[in-house]
Amino acid sequence: MSDLLRGHCAVVTGARRGIGRQTVEVFAREGVRVVYACARKEDDAFAADMRSIAEKYGVSVRPVYFDISDEAAIVRGVREIRSQKDAVPDILVNCAGILSRPCRFSMMSIQEAKRLFDVDFWGQVILTQHLSKIFHRQRRGSIVFVTSIAGMDGFFASLDYVACKAALNAAVVQMARELGEVHVRVNGIAPGLTKTDMIAHQNPAAMEMLKPAIMLGRFGKKQEIAEAIAFLASDAASYVTGQILRVDGGTHPPKANW
Ligand SMILES: NC(=O)c1ccc[n+]([C@@H]2O[C@H](COP(=O)([O-])OP(=O)(O)OC[C@H]3O[C@@H](n4cnc5c(N)ncnc54)[C@H](OP(=O)(O)O)[C@@H]3O)[C@@H](O)[C@H]2O)c1
Repeated sequence: MSDLLRGHCAVVTGARRGIGRQTVEVFAREGVRVVYACARKEDDAFAADMRSIAEKYGVSVRPVYFDISDEAAIVRGVREIRSQKDAVPDILVNCAGILSRPCRFSMMSIQEAKRLFDVDFWGQVILTQHLSKIFHRQRRGSIVFVTSIAGMDGFFASLDYVACKAALNAAVVQMARELGEVHVRVNGIAPGLTKTDMIAHQNPAAMEMLKPAIMLGRFGKKQEIAEAIAFLASDAASYVTGQILRVDGGTHPPKANW
């Protein structure tokens, strides 16, 4: 792929590491003119990393800092983006997220579950509500939510995460309905298990046992998810909206204990 996103201006959350960071790099490679790379808090190493991506691809990558679970911080972040008149965003990728500790429903901490919803659901919805006003005014834009196949298939001992991602999948379709009339597309990418920090701390033996459920017999790479995000964000997907695209190597979870 090349030049898929030439001249666009994108906001990417969760940009410090994992799928979000990879998305920033793929966007830069594809010619996004300005990427607002959003991270939780100020970080010199992150800023240097973003500078190196910008120099490598000859684009502008601008760090923006806010905690996605803090509505006032989100509003400040959006205000900062809007103040940069030379780069009005027309793409949003909602990638920031956390995973809960595996835990049976009967033992689940409601407080932790609410915290997960604040980050993985409300943070994304609130940010999208604010930024989509810009897209609405421009009568164009593309929004990609990074959800999960967990929201469709379930995932063992993770009711809060499963419910949260299912809610996001539903929100994608509803937002697509409401924003379609102003030519704004809204889609979701549902990754299967992907090699990032998010799954690095899981029990390796338990993870190995999951591989037979994947047709390709391996976990995904963050690059593979980022390429799919770039496709959905781009004009190559100009007639695609309200969809959740599984990028999961063909995962068919066993009925029991998943
Ligand atoms: N990896 C998988 O197997 C997998 C599968 C399906 C879906 N997903 C989804 O993919 C997305 C990205 O996950 P990943 O695998 O790339 O995970 P990751 O490597 O753990 O990265 C998560 C990113 O989210 C950021 N983040 C977390 N809480 C935040 C907050 N309160 N405010 C702002 N940023 C916050 C993190 O920032 P810090 O660096 O500051 O912590 C980090 O940059 C998530 O939505 C996840 O649910 C992942």
